[in-house]
Amino acid sequence: MVAIGNALFAAAAATVSTSSGSGTTSSLGAHQFQLADCSIDNFVPQFPAGQTQLVAPSQPPKFIGLAFGVQNYTCSTGNNFTSAGAVAELIDVSCIVSSPGFSTIQNDLYSFWTTLVPYSIQSIIDFLHIVNPPEILAQHYFVTNPITGQGISPKWDFTSSGKFQGVQDAFIIAKGKGTIPSPDDPTHDIAWLDVVQVEGDIASEVFRFDTVGGQPPSSCTYGKDKDISVKYVSKYIFYGGSLS
Ligand SMILES: *[C@@H]1O[C@H](CO)[C@@H](O)[C@H](O)[C@H]1NC(C)=O
Ligand SMILES: *[C@@H]1O[C@H](CO)[C@@H](O)[C@H](O)[C@H]1NC(C)=O
Repeated sequence: MVAIGNALFAAAAATVSTSSGSGTTSSLGAHQFQLADCSIDNFVPQFPAGQTQLVAPSQPPKFIGLAFGVQNYTCSTGNNFTSAGAVAELIDVSCIVSSPGFSTIQNDLYSFWTTLVPYSIQSIIDFLHIVNPPEILAQHYFVTNPITGQGISPKWDFTSSGKFQGVQDAFIIAKGKGTIPSPDDPTHDIAWLDVVQVEGDIASEVFRFDTVGGQPPSSCTYGKDKDISVKYVSKYIFYGGSLS
């Protein structure tokens, strides 16, 4: 919970932040600690052994976000929920990748997000945009597929805060490359993914891993059940791209 407090509600403390060197620091009394934009050159995400769908590139990763938000679903004619996009806020967790507990931080954030946060994801995103703490890395949402003009594609947008604010190409729109069911609890936790760039310069490849929640009920009644949004948390790690 302390880590989550740091990540999420450093919002308040961070409004009194100053920039120094390559990262953003916050001064609390005499102590200076870096909150965002730390190097993650040596960080290697842990993907399950014995599969070839998700393989971390050998180059160092550039950004890592801990995301909280919703997965949207619509009840389709097969009487099951099919994906209809997602909305999430990504917190820059680059400065805590070596902390004890980082590998399970998604569980803490999920408990917090599902039990203690009564606001919609969009209202939180809007609020954090106003407060503008340095830990906000990006927003994740869906846009019309830019290639076919039909259906939707996932986008990670770095353009509205931090060092990429106003940088037009600081985003990635992606298409699927690989996927595995969550190795933890696949009926509750959404799949892990590897997606690759279709447009944008912030990255050429993104992995979703360490997912918690987000899965819809296994069935629904077409024509009767409304669209649903299911809360989830995950990590997203970004590789490649021409911006840094
Ligand atoms: C939903 O049902 C359709 C038709 O029965 C099936 O092809 C599809 O794989 C199902 N999708 C999911 C997400 O279960
Ligand atoms: C997903 O649902 C949320 C509300 O829960 C809404 O704000 C958002 O626009 C929806 N996004 C998509 C892509 O349907």
